[in-house]
Amino acid sequence: MSDSDRLVAAARAARDRALAPYSTFKVGAALLARDGTIYSGCNVENASYGLTMCAERVALFKALSEGAREFTMIAVVADTAAPTPPCGPCRQLLWEYCGDIPVVMANLQTITGQHQMRELLPLPFDGRLLK
Ligand code: THU
Repeated sequence: MSDSDRLVAAARAARDRALAPYSTFKVGAALLARDGTIYSGCNVENASYGLTMCAERVALFKALSEGAREFTMIAVVADTAAPTPPCGPCRQLLWEYCGDIPVVMANLQTITGQHQMRELLPLPFDGRLLK
């Protein structure tokens, strides 16, 4: 099985655990670390609405908090015909911690798109600009 197939499978499994009673839009993400470990996440909504956390950031924060620092790919899964790309805040954080990795988007049946982070976040603000 290819890395992208493994990641999409993990993202689909994570999506099943989504806590999305308000939007009913369940999302799963899976982040591949350079050592081969997969860190998955689902969206976590709550009654405040505004404190909702996206699947991508759950996966990223899990990985970072476990000590992973280098990443090679992320998969995002939703049950839609169109690809579900990461939202703006997720793009900012994925760029900072993962760099120019491929973002594979899929639904429950198939891969719906793939883009590099650089395409999703052109002209990024990042730590290099603080110097
Ligand atoms: N959501 C994600 O988890 N990731 C995305 O890439 C897009 C949006 C979640 C946030 C919210 O719980 C629901 O999907 C609807 O926006």
